[in-house]
Amino acid sequence: MTIAWNAERAGAIIDEHRALRGALLPVLHALQEEFGYIDAAATPLLASALTLSQAEIHGVVTFYHEFRRSRPGRHVVKVCVAEACQARGSESLVEGLKARLGIDLGETAADGSFTLEAVYCLGNCALGPSVMVDDRLHGLFHASRLDGVLE
Ligand code: FES
Repeated sequence: MTIAWNAERAGAIIDEHRALRGALLPVLHALQEEFGYIDAAATPLLASALTLSQAEIHGVVTFYHEFRRSRPGRHVVKVCVAEACQARGSESLVEGLKARLGIDLGETAADGSFTLEAVYCLGNCALGPSVMVDDRLHGLFHASRLDGVLE
């Protein structure tokens, strides 16, 4: 469960990690774990604490697909679009999920219920197509299973 953006809590998380070698990635992961995304307001805090430019931080956040820059929906559906899952039908699965959720990849439903994201391998290749719904991994997935999984 994530909490709303809070600069004081973000500062505490940064302080917990700042002494680590190569602290930026661990801090970004910790911030996303706490808030569900990397708020733009984190950039100046990180720049000051880690003695990096805001451009360097922005470059890292935008380079890695796993970092979100806006608050996700209450449920996050990650669908694997890497090669092994493609060979097992992930393209039609993506279309089915888009139709079921009414959103495109990378979007969040207007009511904040779902975010649909593409990911590149969930480590479950033999049982693809693979989907992660919130923190639970599902293999051999079909879009029609989504409602059952959410229950
Ligand atoms: S390619 Fe989809 S889980 Fe590995």
